[in-house]
Amino acid sequence: MKDKGWFSKNIYKNRRIYTMLFLFYAMVLLGVFIYYHNMRDRTYVVKGEPDSAEDSELSITGERSKEWSEHSVAGMSKGMEYDFVITNNGNGDVLEWQAEIDFGSDFVIDSSWNGDFEISDHTLVVDPDKQTAELASGEQKTFGLVMISVGEQEVTEYRLYYKENFQMTDSPVFWLVIAAFIITMTVFITDEINYRRYSKLRKWQEEIQAVLLESFTTFANIIDAKDPYTQGHSLRVALYAKLLAEKMGYDDTEQERVYWIGMLHDIGKIGITDVILQKPGQLDNIEYSTIQTHVDIGGIILKDFKALPDIADGAQYHHERWDGKGYSKHLSGKEIPEIARIICIADSFDAMTSPRVYRKALSVEFAKNELVKCSGTQFDPDIVPVMIKLIDEGSVPVDIP
Ligand SMILES: [Fe+2]
Repeated sequence: MKDKGWFSKNIYKNRRIYTMLFLFYAMVLLGVFIYYHNMRDRTYVVKGEPDSAEDSELSITGERSKEWSEHSVAGMSKGMEYDFVITNNGNGDVLEWQAEIDFGSDFVIDSSWNGDFEISDHTLVVDPDKQTAELASGEQKTFGLVMISVGEQEVTEYRLYYKENFQMTDSPVFWLVIAAFIITMTVFITDEINYRRYSKLRKWQEEIQAVLLESFTTFANIIDAKDPYTQGHSLRVALYAKLLAEKMGYDDTEQERVYWIGMLHDIGKIGITDVILQKPGQLDNIEYSTIQTHVDIGGIILKDFKALPDIADGAQYHHERWDGKGYSKHLSGKEIPEIARIICIADSFDAMTSPRVYRKALSVEFAKNELVKCSGTQFDPDIVPVMIKLIDEGSVPVDIP
């Protein structure tokens, strides 16, 4: 019972950890995104000559495929067709590019294909068109022009400006975070499902506990109703026995078991006639012997109650004495089951501190002295000090009507 809410508290703690982890993943992903976005915006430059083309990431090769004499343009006499190939030798895709190709002298463009061409001084500036703009890794695109020039033209140098198409998904960090996220999500969902199942189970368990408690209390009331002078006796004995068990180091479940057993310790009284049980005066020997049979009757009634171990022992042996002079089996010392030794002390203390038809309730001080006096004869000398401690700290007696 004490651990109620432990799981729920833990679940809230776990949820905080999951939330922090998810936030952490989101921040890492944001970092990766910003990094790659910046990389995408960066412009790279390669310079080269058409001969050394293969060495760089992005390169241009070109050849003069045709040439002829031309007289139609003023001062110019040579017609030439140039075919260029731009190659992406790198691992990443090229997003945008622009080429500057230097020639030796003045020229004009007669016609061109696969790009936008401009002349700046002796330099041909090429911007790709839609078809040639993107270059996947290993891909080649062609472009070219027909130029009219004063003389022979040779490409002296080219410069390529380009941007790489960096994607967040290219990053191993991205995939690591995704994997970690999936694992965390799986654990989180499993945790949630377990929590829901646990809550259901817990509710069901609490309902059963309530039914158990009410059933046992009803039984205890039936037992106590047999003897109007011992009202509340079974409940008080159960509580004292439980408190003793707690002080003796029993765990929560065991304490609860001791409580149930304490409640039914006098169940055998059901089998004793009311004439004797409710007799106002002193009992004669036969009547006293009859009353004593309640322990055997209790043992028989509870012998099949296997779900609660030792419950029959509690009823059968709670009037045994440490010195062997008790009833009905005359066990002594540790032969008497511990549960019965606990109930014996709880039972005797309550019997003394409750009123009887033939006497008033005895004082707690008196009962305490009796326990000490009979320690090692009637009572287990190891358990008596525990009871004294409970009395001294005010935990017992309690008032249960
Ligand atoms: Fe009894």
